[in-house]
Amino acid sequence: MINDADDTITNPTANQPFGEVVRRRFSRRSVLTGGAAGAAAYVLAGIPTAAGAVEVPVSGETAPTPTLTFKPIATNTTDAVTVPTGYTAQPIAPWGDPIIPGGPAFKTDASNSAAEQAEQLGMGHDGVQFFPLGENRDSSSEGLLAINHEYTTNNLLFPDGDANWTAEKTQKEQNAHGVGIVSIARSADGWAIVDSGQARRITPNTPMQFTGRAVGHPLLRTATDPTGTTPTGTVNNCGNGTTPWGTLLTTEENFNGYFWEETEGEAEGIDQRQATNNERMGVGGQGFGYQWATTDEQWRADLHPTRPNTFGWIVEIDPYNPSSTPKKHTSLGRFKHEAAVVAESSRGEAVVYMGDDQRFDYVYKFVSTNPWRDDVAAGRSPLEDGTLYVATFNDDGTGRWTPLVWMESGLTPANGWDSPGDVLVRAREAADQVGATPMDRPEWIAILPGGQVYIACTNNTRREEANAANPRIDNTFGHIVHIDEMSASFGAPAFTWDHFVLAGSGDGTDGSTVEAEDMFGSPDGLWADADGRIWIQTDGRQPDGSNNQMLAADPSTGELRRFLVGPADCEVTGAAKTPDGTTMFISIQHPGDDGTPEEPTLTSTWPDRDPTSRPRPACVAITRDDGGVVG
Ligand code: FEO
Ligand code: CA
Ligand code: CA
Ligand code: CA
Repeated sequence: MINDADDTITNPTANQPFGEVVRRRFSRRSVLTGGAAGAAAYVLAGIPTAAGAVEVPVSGETAPTPTLTFKPIATNTTDAVTVPTGYTAQPIAPWGDPIIPGGPAFKTDASNSAAEQAEQLGMGHDGVQFFPLGENRDSSSEGLLAINHEYTTNNLLFPDGDANWTAEKTQKEQNAHGVGIVSIARSADGWAIVDSGQARRITPNTPMQFTGRAVGHPLLRTATDPTGTTPTGTVNNCGNGTTPWGTLLTTEENFNGYFWEETEGEAEGIDQRQATNNERMGVGGQGFGYQWATTDEQWRADLHPTRPNTFGWIVEIDPYNPSSTPKKHTSLGRFKHEAAVVAESSRGEAVVYMGDDQRFDYVYKFVSTNPWRDDVAAGRSPLEDGTLYVATFNDDGTGRWTPLVWMESGLTPANGWDSPGDVLVRAREAADQVGATPMDRPEWIAILPGGQVYIACTNNTRREEANAANPRIDNTFGHIVHIDEMSASFGAPAFTWDHFVLAGSGDGTDGSTVEAEDMFGSPDGLWADADGRIWIQTDGRQPDGSNNQMLAADPSTGELRRFLVGPADCEVTGAAKTPDGTTMFISIQHPGDDGTPEEPTLTSTWPDRDPTSRPRPACVAITRDDGGVVG
């Protein structure tokens, strides 16, 4: 999502327990401190999985020592994807292409119908994952590409933009949201969409299922789902992740932007608890200006006050089974989910790290009740039952995970909490109550074996009071926090932390801990590959005014190199590799989208280079010309 959409503040609490700016925790070379201890001994061992080749970092193992072999590139403002010498960047799976070859073709004047859009890739490419196909699901030349379609830009989606709104336009815009799953294969000509019978679109209208401790809670009951068990659809899917049992996790971020609440919570039937909940989640007014509420009453929060509660979840999708019903796992809590990255604890539990991307919101993790292999063997998702925690970062470099569990930590009826489900639906308010640390917009999270966790805090230009973990007021360029889960278990209740890097110009004026040649701003996408490289992607203003970019870091040495610069006015996001590491997939979101809805200005012709067409978000397949591992 274009940076500003996540920028408002809905946290009314004063959870700033560490008001003093503590600068001793970082230094110019503090990028060196992240995960450096013991890093030299790290060796990655993949775990055998039900699905085949999908691996997650495991507690007790040690991270590998990566090598950065590419020649770093300079920043630029060109309208192209720039990669190092010896690499090729191929656009693939743009908005509007049919999900099956021979499906409805993209029309360059944006006149495709809603029905056609339902059989095409959506817009706003964000998180991307590669699920290998082949006999053992370990192929690096054929697989499923799962793409989040976070949001739409209506001056591109329609010939006449937001004007002359109709139910057909609502339907088309909804069909351009959600998730796209396509089969792709690599030939001598590069990667292309093929037909393996597994392509699928998931939209704001796809039937889903709730699991977990909030199922059936009154706050989840709606007019179309009176039992609170079978919600409809997913929206504003931002970051994503994979599980070791071979499924996709997609996140629901700025769902509030789609709801209208014309009477500010005063409608009949809305109680004060729900009104406060909607306010805390930013539901109100006419959202971000989407017009769905004008033709589809389900997006009227004043008429359907609990319907926003059916969004803000982590959704699990089996990409290998196109007829499977996606599951919304309530036990992972409801907030503006950005990241969903899975690790394995020393006891074999699934641990999911999650950021809540809003100014002054929090970092969470979920720990499954059972070892994940036991749940999978019993036919359950390990994400159905477990404990949600929220992070507090102390100013001495320690931290704690506080369980958000009913009847603990003051989450009691006396304080207005009626049940376990209530705590999960209103997880933000529960986190407010237990004293979680308000962060500078936590976005993606990267993890490495041995309990190493890296959290992108993209920026926060409205921070007026620093805390140790968020040490800069008016934090224009953001930073990356590093957590070391003590005892090297991802399931640990306490941790130590430091700053992996403070982003910025590197010129000594802004407190950044980078060299000038590696300058960057607004880290958003963050992903650790199997060799231990940390990939950093940006969404926002860069210190020198250049285009958004992607860098690679070696956490064992602190080395940082710029790998990619995106086209004009895009965001670089999403990261995945084939099992052999020779293709990396990323997303280019909103290329050329430099305007406002009122005054759109299109500054890009990427990727089609067709003056009669329009810029299109797309994925990019990056390969090395000598066939080696990307990085
Ligand atoms: Fe969807 Fe916070 O970016
Ligand atoms: Ca985004
Ligand atoms: Ca962002
Ligand atoms: Ca993001």
